[in-house]
Amino acid sequence: MNIGVYPGSFDPITNGHLDIIKRASNTFDEVIVGVLVNPDKKGLFEIDERVELIKRATKDIPNVKVESFSGLLVNFMKERNIKVIIKGLRAVSDFEYEFKMALMNKRLNPDMETIFMMTAAEYSFLSSSSVKQVAMFGGCIEGLVPDEIIQDVIERIDKKRGI
Ligand code: PNS
Repeated sequence: MNIGVYPGSFDPITNGHLDIIKRASNTFDEVIVGVLVNPDKKGLFEIDERVELIKRATKDIPNVKVESFSGLLVNFMKERNIKVIIKGLRAVSDFEYEFKMALMNKRLNPDMETIFMMTAAEYSFLSSSSVKQVAMFGGCIEGLVPDEIIQDVIERIDKKRGI
């Protein structure tokens, strides 16, 4: 079976991520969305919450699974016999960071391949941090994150702001 992992922080999942997940699900037999547990970085959502939000946003795509992982991505992949990393590229500015990460993963395990999908032009400006910033200052996040999670993002940001 042709399985790909789509790794990231997903704090929270955006429509740019969802676009890549949908397109990857048409290319791979199965896509595993891997949510990184980063103990050094406190996010807006806890890891289990992020997993739940992604599951909700991808519930209609049958060949997508969502899991969290900690430590090295290549180890998570080896345990599951996955050989392909799927990444989205939004702009040239993403390239350097992604290039370094792809080479490091290759160095850590030469069996792993990273493949890049170009993010749809309409989402090329979008990131989880920009969504959080817009929501923090009361801007509209409709169309930026999946409809199913808009309310969760707004409520969590309001809670953070003490409203
Ligand atoms: O959402 P992000 O920040 O672009 O995701 C980055 C992620 C999770 C893909 C990357 O940080 C990662 O794979 N971390 C796991 C640790 C690891 O394997 N590091 C080696 C590659 S540099």
